[in-house]
Amino acid sequence: MLFELERVTMSRDGKVVLQDLSASLPKGASCVAGPSGSGKSTLLRLLNRLADPDAGIVRYGDSDVRQRDPLELRREVCLVPQLPALLEGSVEDNIRFAAGLAGRDPDVPRLLDLAGLDRSFAARSGEKLSVGEQQRAMLARALALEPRVLLLDEPTSALDEEAREAVESTLLDLRERVRLSTVLVTHDLDQARRMADWVVRLDEGRLVAEGRVKEHLAV
Ligand SMILES: Nc1ncnc2c1ncn2[C@@H]1O[C@H](COP(=O)(O)OP(=O)(O)O)[C@@H](O)[C@H]1O
Ligand SMILES: [Mg+2]
Repeated sequence: MLFELERVTMSRDGKVVLQDLSASLPKGASCVAGPSGSGKSTLLRLLNRLADPDAGIVRYGDSDVRQRDPLELRREVCLVPQLPALLEGSVEDNIRFAAGLAGRDPDVPRLLDLAGLDRSFAARSGEKLSVGEQQRAMLARALALEPRVLLLDEPTSALDEEAREAVESTLLDLRERVRLSTVLVTHDLDQARRMADWVVRLDEGRLVAEGRVKEHLAV
Protein backbone atom coordinates (compact mmCIF):
# COMPACT_ATOMS: atom_id res chain seq x y z
CA MET A 1 0.00 0.00 0.00
CA LEU A 2 1.04 3.56 -0.65
CA PHE A 3 -0.80 4.98 2.37
CA GLU A 4 -2.45 3.31 5.32
CA LEU A 5 -4.49 4.97 8.01
CA GLU A 6 -4.85 3.00 11.20
CA ARG A 7 -7.58 4.02 13.65
CA VAL A 8 -7.17 7.70 12.90
CA THR A 9 -9.17 10.22 14.87
CA MET A 10 -9.04 13.92 14.18
CA SER A 11 -10.93 16.85 15.68
CA ARG A 12 -11.23 20.41 14.50
CA ASP A 13 -12.54 23.10 16.82
CA GLY A 14 -13.61 20.42 19.29
CA LYS A 15 -15.66 18.51 16.73
CA VAL A 16 -14.63 15.01 15.66
CA VAL A 17 -14.20 15.09 11.86
CA LEU A 18 -12.47 11.73 11.35
CA GLN A 19 -13.53 8.95 13.68
CA ASP A 20 -11.48 5.82 14.27
CA LEU A 21 -10.79 5.63 10.55
CA SER A 22 -8.79 2.77 9.06
CA ALA A 23 -8.30 2.84 5.31
CA SER A 24 -5.73 2.10 2.61
CA LEU A 25 -4.74 3.79 -0.61
CA PRO A 26 -2.67 1.75 -3.07
CA LYS A 27 -0.18 3.04 -5.63
CA GLY A 28 -1.75 4.29 -8.85
CA ALA A 29 -4.97 6.27 -9.15
CA SER A 30 -7.08 6.29 -6.02
CA CYS A 31 -9.74 8.60 -4.67
CA VAL A 32 -11.46 9.66 -1.49
CA ALA A 33 -15.14 10.24 -2.13
CA GLY A 34 -17.93 11.50 0.08
CA PRO A 35 -20.37 14.33 0.62
CA SER A 36 -19.35 17.83 1.58
CA GLY A 37 -18.14 17.96 5.19
CA SER A 38 -17.41 14.22 5.37
CA GLY A 39 -13.73 14.80 6.15
CA LYS A 40 -12.12 14.30 2.73
CA SER A 41 -9.86 17.37 2.81
CA THR A 42 -8.96 16.66 6.43
CA LEU A 43 -7.88 13.14 5.45
CA LEU A 44 -5.86 14.41 2.48
CA ARG A 45 -3.92 16.84 4.66
CA LEU A 46 -2.84 13.99 6.95
CA LEU A 47 -1.08 12.24 4.08
CA ASN A 48 1.72 14.79 3.77
CA ARG A 49 1.66 16.13 7.32
CA LEU A 50 -0.13 19.40 6.68
CA ALA A 51 -1.78 18.13 9.84
CA ASP A 52 -1.17 15.23 12.21
CA PRO A 53 -4.02 13.17 13.71
CA ASP A 54 -5.06 13.34 17.35
CA ALA A 55 -4.84 9.56 17.54
CA GLY A 56 -3.90 6.73 15.23
CA ILE A 57 -1.17 6.23 12.66
CA VAL A 58 -0.72 7.38 9.07
CA ARG A 59 1.76 5.28 7.11
CA TYR A 60 3.41 6.20 3.83
CA GLY A 61 5.16 3.22 2.33
CA ASP A 62 6.15 1.21 5.35
CA SER A 63 6.78 3.99 7.79
CA ASP A 64 4.84 6.30 10.07
CA VAL A 65 4.72 9.72 8.40
CA ARG A 66 5.75 11.25 11.71
CA GLN A 67 9.21 9.85 11.09
CA ARG A 68 9.44 12.07 8.02
CA ASP A 69 10.47 15.69 7.92
CA PRO A 70 7.27 17.55 6.93
CA LEU A 71 8.86 19.85 4.36
CA GLU A 72 10.72 17.06 2.64
CA LEU A 73 7.60 14.88 2.71
CA ARG A 74 5.48 17.66 1.16
CA ARG A 75 7.83 17.86 -1.81
CA GLU A 76 7.49 14.14 -2.38
CA VAL A 77 3.74 14.04 -1.61
CA CYS A 78 2.49 17.28 -3.07
CA LEU A 79 -0.98 18.70 -2.43
CA VAL A 80 -2.81 20.76 -5.02
CA PRO A 81 -5.40 22.70 -3.00
CA GLN A 82 -9.05 23.10 -3.89
CA LEU A 83 -8.68 26.82 -4.52
CA PRO A 84 -5.70 28.07 -6.51
CA ALA A 85 -3.18 30.11 -4.52
CA LEU A 86 -0.48 31.38 -6.86
CA LEU A 87 2.26 33.69 -5.73
CA GLU A 88 2.56 37.13 -7.27
CA GLY A 89 4.34 37.18 -10.60
CA SER A 90 4.22 35.12 -13.77
CA VAL A 91 3.36 31.46 -14.12
CA GLU A 92 7.04 30.81 -14.87
CA ASP A 93 8.04 32.64 -11.66
CA ASN A 94 5.71 30.37 -9.74
CA ILE A 95 7.14 27.25 -11.34
CA ARG A 96 10.74 28.37 -10.80
CA PHE A 97 10.09 29.25 -7.18
CA ALA A 98 8.59 25.83 -6.43
CA ALA A 99 11.35 24.01 -8.31
CA GLY A 100 13.96 26.04 -6.42
CA LEU A 101 12.55 24.82 -3.10
CA ALA A 102 13.22 21.28 -4.23
CA GLY A 103 16.63 22.23 -5.66
CA ARG A 104 15.52 21.50 -9.23
CA ASP A 105 16.00 23.31 -12.50
CA PRO A 106 12.56 23.12 -14.12
CA ASP A 107 11.81 22.40 -17.76
CA VAL A 108 9.11 25.10 -17.89
CA PRO A 109 7.66 24.30 -21.36
CA ARG A 110 7.35 20.62 -20.49
CA LEU A 111 5.69 21.36 -17.14
CA LEU A 112 3.22 23.72 -18.81
CA ASP A 113 2.49 21.08 -21.42
CA LEU A 114 1.90 18.38 -18.77
CA ALA A 115 -0.55 20.73 -17.07
CA GLY A 116 -2.36 21.44 -20.33
CA LEU A 117 -1.10 25.01 -20.82
CA ASP A 118 0.63 26.26 -23.95
CA ARG A 119 3.99 28.03 -23.75
CA SER A 120 2.51 31.51 -23.88
CA PHE A 121 1.32 31.02 -20.29
CA ALA A 122 4.88 31.16 -18.95
CA ALA A 123 4.93 34.95 -19.08
CA ARG A 124 1.31 35.50 -18.02
CA SER A 125 0.57 36.93 -14.63
CA GLY A 126 -1.17 34.48 -12.30
CA GLU A 127 -3.78 36.98 -11.20
CA LYS A 128 -4.98 37.51 -14.76
CA LEU A 129 -5.79 33.86 -15.42
CA SER A 130 -9.18 32.19 -15.20
CA VAL A 131 -9.72 29.87 -12.23
CA GLY A 132 -9.27 26.84 -14.49
CA GLU A 133 -6.00 28.22 -15.86
CA GLN A 134 -4.82 29.05 -12.34
CA GLN A 135 -5.55 25.48 -11.34
CA ARG A 136 -3.42 24.25 -14.21
CA ALA A 137 -0.64 26.62 -13.18
CA MET A 138 -0.89 25.16 -9.67
CA LEU A 139 -0.58 21.71 -11.22
CA ALA A 140 2.49 22.75 -13.24
CA ARG A 141 3.99 24.19 -10.06
CA ALA A 142 3.33 20.97 -8.15
CA LEU A 143 4.87 18.90 -10.96
CA ALA A 144 8.01 21.08 -10.82
CA LEU A 145 8.76 19.38 -7.49
CA GLU A 146 8.87 16.05 -9.34
CA PRO A 147 6.63 14.49 -6.69
CA ARG A 148 5.99 10.78 -6.32
CA VAL A 149 2.42 11.43 -5.23
CA LEU A 150 -0.04 14.18 -6.15
CA LEU A 151 -2.89 14.91 -3.75
CA LEU A 152 -5.69 16.61 -5.67
CA ASP A 153 -8.42 18.24 -3.58
CA GLU A 154 -11.58 18.56 -5.71
CA PRO A 155 -9.61 19.88 -8.69
CA THR A 156 -12.71 20.52 -10.78
CA SER A 157 -15.21 21.78 -8.21
CA ALA A 158 -14.79 25.43 -9.25
CA LEU A 159 -15.01 24.69 -12.98
CA ASP A 160 -17.78 24.57 -15.56
CA GLU A 161 -18.50 21.36 -17.46
CA GLU A 162 -16.15 22.05 -20.34
CA ALA A 163 -13.22 23.03 -18.13
CA ARG A 164 -13.90 20.02 -15.90
CA GLU A 165 -13.66 17.65 -18.86
CA ALA A 166 -10.44 19.32 -19.97
CA VAL A 167 -8.86 19.01 -16.50
CA GLU A 168 -9.93 15.38 -16.24
CA SER A 169 -8.33 14.53 -19.56
CA THR A 170 -5.17 16.42 -18.58
CA LEU A 171 -4.96 14.36 -15.39
CA LEU A 172 -5.56 11.07 -17.21
CA ASP A 173 -2.96 12.03 -19.80
CA LEU A 174 -0.51 13.05 -17.08
CA ARG A 175 -0.65 9.60 -15.54
CA GLU A 176 0.39 8.09 -18.87
CA ARG A 177 3.33 10.45 -19.18
CA VAL A 178 4.72 10.71 -15.66
CA ARG A 179 5.24 7.96 -13.13
CA LEU A 180 3.30 9.13 -10.17
CA SER A 181 0.44 8.12 -7.94
CA THR A 182 -2.59 10.33 -7.45
CA VAL A 183 -5.09 10.64 -4.63
CA LEU A 184 -8.12 12.55 -5.88
CA VAL A 185 -10.69 13.97 -3.50
CA THR A 186 -14.16 14.30 -4.97
CA HIS A 187 -17.80 14.53 -3.91
CA ASP A 188 -18.78 13.24 -7.36
CA LEU A 189 -19.03 9.46 -7.64
CA ASP A 190 -19.17 9.67 -11.44
CA GLN A 191 -15.85 11.47 -11.39
CA ALA A 192 -14.48 8.77 -9.08
CA ARG A 193 -15.57 6.16 -11.66
CA ARG A 194 -13.90 8.05 -14.50
CA MET A 195 -10.68 8.91 -12.72
CA ALA A 196 -9.75 6.25 -10.17
CA ASP A 197 -9.16 2.54 -9.76
CA TRP A 198 -9.51 2.53 -5.97
CA VAL A 199 -12.00 4.34 -3.78
CA VAL A 200 -12.24 5.16 -0.09
CA ARG A 201 -15.76 6.35 0.70
CA LEU A 202 -16.36 8.55 3.71
CA ASP A 203 -19.46 9.80 5.41
CA GLU A 204 -19.42 11.96 8.53
CA GLY A 205 -15.78 11.12 9.18
CA ARG A 206 -16.27 7.37 9.03
CA LEU A 207 -15.34 4.78 6.45
CA VAL A 208 -18.33 3.63 4.40
CA ALA A 209 -16.49 1.37 1.98
CA GLU A 210 -13.14 0.89 0.33
CA GLY A 211 -11.96 -1.18 -2.56
CA ARG A 212 -11.74 -1.32 -6.32
CA VAL A 213 -13.89 1.20 -8.12
CA LYS A 214 -15.11 -1.58 -10.45
CA GLU A 215 -16.58 -3.45 -7.50
CA HIS A 216 -17.64 -0.65 -5.17
CA LEU A 217 -18.95 1.91 -7.62
CA ALA A 218 -20.46 -0.39 -10.22
CA VAL A 219 -23.31 1.29 -12.08
N1 LIG B 1 -10.21 24.92 9.49
C1 LIG B 1 -11.23 24.30 10.08
N2 LIG B 1 -11.58 24.60 11.35
C2 LIG B 1 -12.59 23.98 11.96
N3 LIG B 1 -13.35 23.05 11.39
C3 LIG B 1 -13.09 22.72 10.14
C4 LIG B 1 -12.00 23.32 9.41
N4 LIG B 1 -11.96 22.78 8.19
C5 LIG B 1 -12.97 21.89 8.14
N5 LIG B 1 -13.63 21.84 9.30
C6 LIG B 1 -14.78 20.97 9.62
O1 LIG B 1 -14.37 19.64 9.52
C7 LIG B 1 -15.37 18.85 8.89
C8 LIG B 1 -14.77 18.13 7.69
O2 LIG B 1 -14.30 19.10 6.79
P1 LIG B 1 -13.52 18.73 5.47
O3 LIG B 1 -12.44 17.75 5.77
O4 LIG B 1 -13.13 20.01 4.85
O5 LIG B 1 -14.67 17.98 4.62
P2 LIG B 1 -14.81 17.78 3.05
O6 LIG B 1 -13.48 18.05 2.43
O7 LIG B 1 -15.25 16.35 2.91
O8 LIG B 1 -15.88 18.71 2.60
C9 LIG B 1 -16.50 19.77 8.52
O9 LIG B 1 -17.50 19.66 9.52
C10 LIG B 1 -15.87 21.14 8.57
O10 LIG B 1 -16.81 22.10 8.97
MG1 LIG C 1 -12.92 19.47 1.09
